[in-house]
Amino acid sequence: MNCLLSAEKISVRYGSLAALTDVDLCVHDGQRHALIGPNGAGKTTLLSVLGATTRPQRGTVRFVGRDVSRLGPAARARRGINRTHQRPAVFATLTAIENIEVAALPRTIRRRRWSPGGTRGAARRTAAELLDQLGLSDLATVPAGHLAHGQRRQLEIAMALAGRPRLLLLDEPAAGLSATEVGRLAELLAALPRQVAVLLVEHHLDLVYALCDTVTVLRDGRTVAAGTPDEIRTSPLVRRAYADGVS
Ligand SMILES: Nc1ncnc2c1ncn2[C@@H]1O[C@H](COP(=O)(O)OP(=O)(O)OP(=O)(O)O)[C@@H](O)[C@H]1O
Ligand SMILES: [Mg+2]
Repeated sequence: MNCLLSAEKISVRYGSLAALTDVDLCVHDGQRHALIGPNGAGKTTLLSVLGATTRPQRGTVRFVGRDVSRLGPAARARRGINRTHQRPAVFATLTAIENIEVAALPRTIRRRRWSPGGTRGAARRTAAELLDQLGLSDLATVPAGHLAHGQRRQLEIAMALAGRPRLLLLDEPAAGLSATEVGRLAELLAALPRQVAVLLVEHHLDLVYALCDTVTVLRDGRTVAAGTPDEIRTSPLVRRAYADGVS
């Protein structure tokens, strides 16, 4: 089966530190693919390369068969790659619904001829639908800066979904969430339509094993294993990769 997204021989150096060395990755259409590994393994760096906020020294990123290596973050988002961040990136002074509206605007502007009421109205409707879908409607008019950490994480996912991605890159969405919030997040991710492929970076391995069909393990900037959750769970190599500990 062809890859929806493929990263080929990606290498990133920060001075003398090799953050990624010759990393290959293939995410299929509709797949739930996890990227795990100890702190400093290069997971966030790889997501940044895929989202075009980090430029690799070497390697190629293809999406839907096209080489997108030279495209910036906005152009990749237009092609259907959207992401969330390890630290939620929301506009603190805008309300929850306004944050999603802003994220939805580029797409609504592309689909309609610009008209102040029409375009904004369409973005507003998308935002309201997403808030409803994620069970956040009660928070619509709360400034994002006043939201609790877990709510901000959910809001950032709603913002990423507002671009109607074909590939959603999630960087530790469960970090800092309570057990109840992790449960809600698991439901939210499990309910995503299959048209959206997910690449999930996560230390919360129960969430990974429950949601994902494929797991890639990074350590020290290299791929050390890839397989099904069962294969990864029982792999001695993976246990060793994690022996460094994860915070
Ligand atoms: N902007 C940067 N400048 C210099 N070094 C960096 C930079 N970003 C990341 N690094 C280093 O690159 C390596 C990989 O970092 P990265 O953030 O990708 O790891 P990670 O797997 O996401 O870790 P964590 O699980 O802690 O989030 C680490 O050694 C990190 O210190
Ligand atoms: Mg990280």
